[in-house]
Amino acid sequence: MPQKPVRIAPSILSSDFSKLGEEVAAIDKAGADYIHIDVMDGHFVPNLTFGAPVVKAIRGATPKPFDVHLMIAPVDPLIGDFVDAGADIITAHVEAGPHLHRTLQAIKSRGVKAGVSLNPHTPIDAIKHVVDMLDLILIMTVNPGFGGQSFIPLLDKIEAARSMIDASGRDIDLQVDGGVNAQTAKQCVQAGADVLVAGSFVFKDGPEGYASNIQALRV
Ligand code: DX5
Ligand code: ZN
Repeated sequence: MPQKPVRIAPSILSSDFSKLGEEVAAIDKAGADYIHIDVMDGHFVPNLTFGAPVVKAIRGATPKPFDVHLMIAPVDPLIGDFVDAGADIITAHVEAGPHLHRTLQAIKSRGVKAGVSLNPHTPIDAIKHVVDMLDLILIMTVNPGFGGQSFIPLLDKIEAARSMIDASGRDIDLQVDGGVNAQTAKQCVQAGADVLVAGSFVFKDGPEGYASNIQALRV
């Protein structure tokens, strides 16, 4: 499947948590394609964010797809909770457990889209044998856990993922997450990405800047 038009998935990790519903509505209005929700457990990654009840609480703020990035281990016991809370895409990490295939089966069996994420050090070959189950591949360009880190230029890895998707003939989003700004967005898209996650870049200027910052990522 060839590269699709670029879609922008603002990460609400960089939003104002004291008014999360309003922030979600504001990025929807500003042109977000997906709402990227970073779930962290303080175990798989050294930070804690929010769980399924928070996802459920903001579900009414937008009809846009909820793109739930699970940085948790184990993953499988909580998949149902996130589906019930309103996730449209659930992405699990290759490194989160020994049974990625089982995790993807569990996500798909609940009728939502299945994504897989790779930490910066994980070779793309790790997902070679599950491509036929995927709707999304997420290439991490920072070590997961925090917003506002610098982009790790894994452009060859993005290119390799693009080749893998094209060879599969499947409709798989190629997402990049971490350190995405107007400059790095361009490099990612040239390498084959078609969904860009951005937290600090989208939210850096407050609500007045959301639309122009989202637009600046559409390269
Ligand atoms: C990092 C998260 C990212 C993060 C990106 O662990 O997965 O989604 O919010 O933040 P920025 O765009 O600031 O690098
Ligand atoms: Zn993320």
